[in-house]
Amino acid sequence: MAARRRGALNAPWFIGTLAAAALSVASAANSRAEGDPARGAQAFRACAACHSIEPGRHLTGPSLANVFGQKAGTVAGFPRYSKALKDSAVVWDAQSLDTWLSNPAKLIPGNWMTFRGIPDARVRADLIAYLKAVSEGNAPAPRASGGMMQAPRLPDLEAADPRSVVTAIRYCGDTYHVTTGSGETIPFWEFNLRFKTDSSEKGPPKGRPVLVGAGMMGDRAQVVFSHPVEISTFIKTECK
Ligand code: HEC
Repeated sequence: MAARRRGALNAPWFIGTLAAAALSVASAANSRAEGDPARGAQAFRACAACHSIEPGRHLTGPSLANVFGQKAGTVAGFPRYSKALKDSAVVWDAQSLDTWLSNPAKLIPGNWMTFRGIPDARVRADLIAYLKAVSEGNAPAPRASGGMMQAPRLPDLEAADPRSVVTAIRYCGDTYHVTTGSGETIPFWEFNLRFKTDSSEKGPPKGRPVLVGAGMMGDRAQVVFSHPVEISTFIKTECK
């Protein structure tokens, strides 16, 4: 009897809690439903340095062209997943993406996405709406005024200006002397010159490495080769 009375007394509180819970579920659903793909396309600039939305075009991170509904860590042709992501049982939907984007390390500890997370729930909802639209083949066209949509400016090395094609590299002491197609030879302190490879279609042709980002004499720059084997054969150690 007493127990029942206490139960009866508690009822309004209980109903209130239920109502609050229902409300918060409803508002969570709403805030997700409100995600705007066009705004999400703008917000994707935070991701575009590492992800493309073109199928098969992988950058630091995998292409996100078909991420919606996909099991984590399974994009074909992306060879750089962490074990943590591959072994996770996560499937990407609105809920898991929301958790991931608010704090990647919390959803999948030990993953390799160097990204702190997005605290703003609306921005996350916009991004998720955008990724969903992309996966469904309905990506909103980038706004004309949006500018800088696709972040990393990968130079088209295949069609590089002959003046930036490298014809010879001589190594002497602590210096690389880089000769380009214009006949000019530029000295670089060895610590300021980086060697990279680009094996993609946009990469340089075999045996024709390209000098990128040499603003000023001796400033930092990079030489991009088509294959790592070229690096050691191309560079001649010689002092004259
Ligand atoms: C600094 C580079 C970087 C940035 C910025 C970045 N990511 Fe990532 N992302 C990665 C890498 C690397 C992975 C793979 C992580 C792993 O294997 O642990 C990844 C994985 C993912 C995955 C899982 C993909 C899969 O195939 O399972 C999603 C989804 C994702 N990122 C979304 C985003 C979104 C959305 C943004 C922008 C808000 C973003 N990322 C920003 C590098 C980045």
